[in-house]
This record gives sequence, C-alpha cells and structure tokens, in this order.
Amino acid sequence: MDTQVVIIGGGPSGLLLSQVLNRAGIATVVLERSSRAHVLSRIRAGVLEWGSVELLREAGIGARMDAQGLPHDGTYLTDGDRMVHIDFKALTGRRVMIYGQTEVTEDLYAAQDAMGTTVLHGVEDVVIEDLDAAQASVSFTVEGARRTLTCAYVAGCDGFHGVSRKTIPEAKRQEFERVYPFGWLGILSRTPPVHDELIYANSEHGFALASMRNPNLVRYYVQVPLSDKVEDWSDDRFWTEFKRRIPAQAAAALVTGPSIEKSIAPLRSFVSEPLRWGRLLLLGDAAHIVPPTGAKGLNLAFSDVHYASEALIAALTHGSTAGIDGYSARALQRIWKAMRFSWQMTTMLHQFEGEDSFAAQMRRATLAHLADSETAQKDLAENYIGLPY
Ligand code: FAD
Ligand code: PHB
Repeated sequence: MDTQVVIIGGGPSGLLLSQVLNRAGIATVVLERSSRAHVLSRIRAGVLEWGSVELLREAGIGARMDAQGLPHDGTYLTDGDRMVHIDFKALTGRRVMIYGQTEVTEDLYAAQDAMGTTVLHGVEDVVIEDLDAAQASVSFTVEGARRTLTCAYVAGCDGFHGVSRKTIPEAKRQEFERVYPFGWLGILSRTPPVHDELIYANSEHGFALASMRNPNLVRYYVQVPLSDKVEDWSDDRFWTEFKRRIPAQAAAALVTGPSIEKSIAPLRSFVSEPLRWGRLLLLGDAAHIVPPTGAKGLNLAFSDVHYASEALIAALTHGSTAGIDGYSARALQRIWKAMRFSWQMTTMLHQFEGEDSFAAQMRRATLAHLADSETAQKDLAENYIGLPY
C-alpha cells in the first residue's frame, strides 16, 4: 500500500481528518484541486460549537483560536424592533466560539506543515476505484503526470461538487433535498460589530444577520432573491438595506465602511445516504449541505471527522472494523437533527416569495413564543451550541 488513507479535498474536513489521523500514527495523503491560497480566500462559516472547539484543541490546533477567538454566551433573534435574547450559558451551561473558517483552515495547514504530512495541490481528474477489493486505489493528475495511490481507505472530503459522492452507484444512493428560493448576500467590512453578540433579524423587509470575525471585522448578510447578482449590490445599497432590517436600537449603533468582500450564497438542505461505500467514507459537504441559518455546516463537517477518525483509527490500529460498518448510521443520526434545526431556523426567519399573510404571522408567533417560553429558548440553545457527539 502506498498510504493508509487517501483524503480527497483539502478543505476543513479533509485537513482536520488528516491532522487527527497523523497524530494517531496513521499515514495519509491529501489531494486538493485548488491552490492553498484559493482555499484560504473563501470566506465561509464563523461560529464554532463547543464540541468543535474541543475537537480542534485535542487535535493540537487550539492555541490561536483560544487567543483570538471570541467566546459568545448568547445570541439575539429579532422581530422588527423586538429583540429576543437567547442566553446559551444560562440555559445550557455552554457557549460558542466566534472564529472564522479561514482561520481554522490556516491553523490546520500550519499544523500539517509542521508534521510534514503530504498535501498535494492542483490535483485534477481524481478517479476512485477498487472500493470492494483488498486495497482501494485513487488515480489523479498532478503537474501534468498521472499517478495512482493504493490505500486501505478513501475519505471523500471534497465538498458538494466533488467526485467522491458520485463514485457510489446512483442506484445505491438516496438523496434528500430542499432548495430555498433565496440566497444570502454577505459582506466583510473592517468596522466594529453593531452589537456584542450575533443578531438574527426577521423583518418585514426580509432576513438579515449581523455576525463578526473580530472586534474590527464584521460579517453581515441580507436575504436576496436568487436572481440577484453581486454587481446589483453597491456598498451603499447593502448598508441601506441591512440597516432597515435590523432593530432600530442596533441600527442606531451601526458603523458603515467599505466592503472588502462581497458574495452571494444560495441556500440548500441536502443529504446523500449512505455515507460509507466499501472502503470509501464521505464527510462534510460531500455528503450533506445545510442552509447557514443555524451555523451548522462547518460544525457538522467536524462531527463527521470525529466519528470517521474514531472508526479509521480502530480499523487501522486494532483491525476492528465495527466503527467503519457503523459510521454512516452513527453520523447520520446527528446530521438529520442538525438538518431539522437549520431548516427550522431558516423557516422561522426568512420571507418566502409569494407567501401568504398567514406565513408572516406564524414567524411572528414563533418568535413571540420564544420570547416568553424558557422551554422554547432552551430547545433553541441546545441545538445552537451543538448536540453531543
Ligand atoms: P469544503 O469546504 O467544500 O472543502 C472541499 C474541498 O475539496 C475544497 O477545498 C475543494 O477545492 C476540494 N475539491 C472539490 N472537488 C475536488 C476534487 N474533485 N478533487 C480534489 N479536491 C476537490 N457554513 C456555516 O456554518 N456558516 C456560513 O456562513 C457558511 N457559508 C458558506 C458559504 C458558501 C458559499 C459555502 C459553499 C458554504 C458555506 N458554509 C457555511 C458551509 C461551510 O463552509 C461548509 O460546511 C464547510 O466548508 C464544509 O467543509 P468541507 O471540508 O466538508 O468542504
Ligand atoms: C458568519 O459569521 O459567517 C455566520 C454566522 C452565523 C451563521 C452563519 C454565518 O448562522
């Protein structure tokens, strides 16, 4: 065998899996299509569940996160000017950490460099074969040359558009999908956050989210129709729209400035089952997508890494394959609960084009109930801070 585990995709799930496996003495090769600079230029998730924080610490990459991350004890959900505070710490005893996916990925690359693991960039035309044989094989082109690696297991960490999921025969896959009729326009701006915690805003003009990366870098979003293009949104138009969607009290404190990044992401819920096919395990966005409203995408990728690394370590160090056999069912239990939460948060906070007046009242009533019921708050907090592994 050329290596023990070939990992396809050098995003957060592939890199964290490589990190955890190498620390357990298991050899890996990571195959990444893009350059490292390109992977690090993607602005994506911003909230880490405490389980993710602990996983990163255990993997030896917690130092910068602990020094620079911002622990948050709660968040706000709003209905017009009414602000409902969800106090995670009081309701569950736990909190979340604000630390961007870009930073996590940078820390992972630095740790992989320090360990001297193999991460190949610019890898094209990956073909996965022999998943039911004694050894799997992965062929690919890098720097113009075709190469093949044999291995015990293949980890598909190559995101929604990757090749791994499609290696499982179509007839053996079951896909579940909901595409939402809107996207999120997000900007990054070097300005102080409008509030000390995140604000998920339901307004008569649509949804907005006030998030942050650090005390002088904000990440703000507004719900937009899928037909909108980034070019349609000047900074002025963004700030005007954002300001009228957040509560007046927050809007009064808003500091605006030039955007340094602006992008539109469509919203989708998607699960492909099973997560394991012979010697192939799927992790992260390769197997499932959530709308960003519950801040679950990156965190789900990390809980998959937890389950998959346990299974791979047991198989490759003690020859026990029960964890590999059970990986799909075990990971899917948690995935479906996060799917439900993300769908519920999305439905509770967004305007759906063409909706009737009843739908808006249901959103308002859900938020009113949340404001008055500690039971409802506890349910939201328990899901937001992350269900146990
Ligand atoms: P990815 O990050 O997609 O990484 C997959 C890697 O595989 C990529 O580096 C890709 O280049 C590589 N790859 C793909 N195909 C191949 C191939 N054929 N061969 C080799 N390599 C390949 N989550 C949140 O919680 N909050 C957010 O605000 C948020 N915003 C998002 C915005 C966008 C536009 C997207 C796409 C996702 C967002 N997410 C968000 C989700 C979160 O970023 C993902 O859940 C997370 O990146 C999943 O990590 P991953 O490693 O599984 O997949
Ligand atoms: C972000 O900071 O980008 C972010 C935070 C919370 C979400 C989604 C995105 O629910």
